[in-house]
Amino acid sequence: MKTFNAVKEYISQFYSPSEYINLEQQITKFGKNKELSFYSVLDATPVFRNTLVKYLPLLKAKMDLTIGYGNGIPYDEKVIEFLNSVGIKTVLNGERIYRKKFDFILDCAGANANVFANIGYVELTRSGLYKYNKSSNNVFLADESIIKRLETSLGTGDGFLRGMQHFGYNDLRGKKVVIFGFGKVGQGVAYYAEKAGAEVIIIDDAQKITPPDSMKIIDLRNRQQIDDIIEISDVVVSVTGIAGALANTLDIAKLVASSAIIVNMGIHNEFGSAMPNERVLNNNAPLNFVLDEPTHLKYIAPTMALSNYGILELLNHQHDTAKLITPGDKINRELLRAVKEKGCLQEELEFLEKELKVTF
Ligand SMILES: NC(=O)c1ccc[n+]([C@@H]2O[C@H](COP(=O)([O-])OP(=O)(O)OC[C@H]3O[C@@H](n4cnc5c(N)ncnc54)[C@H](O)[C@@H]3O)[C@@H](O)[C@H]2O)c1
Repeated sequence: MKTFNAVKEYISQFYSPSEYINLEQQITKFGKNKELSFYSVLDATPVFRNTLVKYLPLLKAKMDLTIGYGNGIPYDEKVIEFLNSVGIKTVLNGERIYRKKFDFILDCAGANANVFANIGYVELTRSGLYKYNKSSNNVFLADESIIKRLETSLGTGDGFLRGMQHFGYNDLRGKKVVIFGFGKVGQGVAYYAEKAGAEVIIIDDAQKITPPDSMKIIDLRNRQQIDDIIEISDVVVSVTGIAGALANTLDIAKLVASSAIIVNMGIHNEFGSAMPNERVLNNNAPLNFVLDEPTHLKYIAPTMALSNYGILELLNHQHDTAKLITPGDKINRELLRAVKEKGCLQEELEFLEKELKVTF
């Protein structure tokens, strides 16, 4: 309990329980579950300050907790130091030399698919799933859910605004913000830019994409209109998910020479080689990655709770032969309903309900 209290006290400097309502409820639930104290768990999800909150239910349940970090999975060195200082074990992800076996592995991108888990794995990303193909144990996939949309669309959109503020752009009122790509992330960026008072113009496939009436759309094949709008835009954001996608969509030289602030929210260089990295905020890396907390806890806490919840699902399926378990609608709605009722994202969740045509 000493370790639980040390972590709880530390995080209370940064977050209030209404920002992690699902994990707060899980602390009580896991704390009452005496069976959990017999098991060991390796939590290998990306280690940042906000991940400390994810560990609280596991500590409250008195599980034997080890934190896996690195080996391709992002982490913050300062948080590893903090964990060591309060006596929580840390190990490098994917080390085959582990003498120890874990009952559960809460993994990310299959980084520990080669480490044996007695009861099973919880995987955070769909893209990491293939690594368990040969696994003889159950895998709970925490990616298959609307909860992820809260993180990817809205959490990243909020990260866009905070990233802009980091560079001193605090006021988007009346500014023309042009967004290339109205996919999962682009929708969140557009939502937050509009909320901040910007005029939002979307560039995407107009035959497939219908943004809200308040936003203008220009078809990605309409080169003339795109080049014209760039000349009078204040901010240009790229978030197509495709390396070099914009090289053939607009006149990059004109964009470079324009007075627009240029932002990349995608993982690749989307502008192609004609764009000098230093012309793009954060040197052409995703803008929100400049922040200590690229995605704020309140958007990511339901995903963290879902990853922990995987332990209970794996226990329920303990005697089934190897299979993939996906979160049902019930748990998705249960977690999001709690956030809607007791958390701090009511307005954002109403937007998501409208977008996805669901009710939590
Ligand atoms: N910054 C972050 O924190 C963060 C978080 C999650 C994902 N991402 C990254 O964001 C990127 C986008 O992810 P997503 O899930 O929104 O992708 P997505 O596939 O859902 O959406 C991409 C959209 O871009 C459009 N598009 C493709 N080429 C285009 C072009 N030339 N011009 C205009 N539009 C074009 C597509 O039609 C589509 O609507 C990826 O690189 C992803 O890795 C970043």
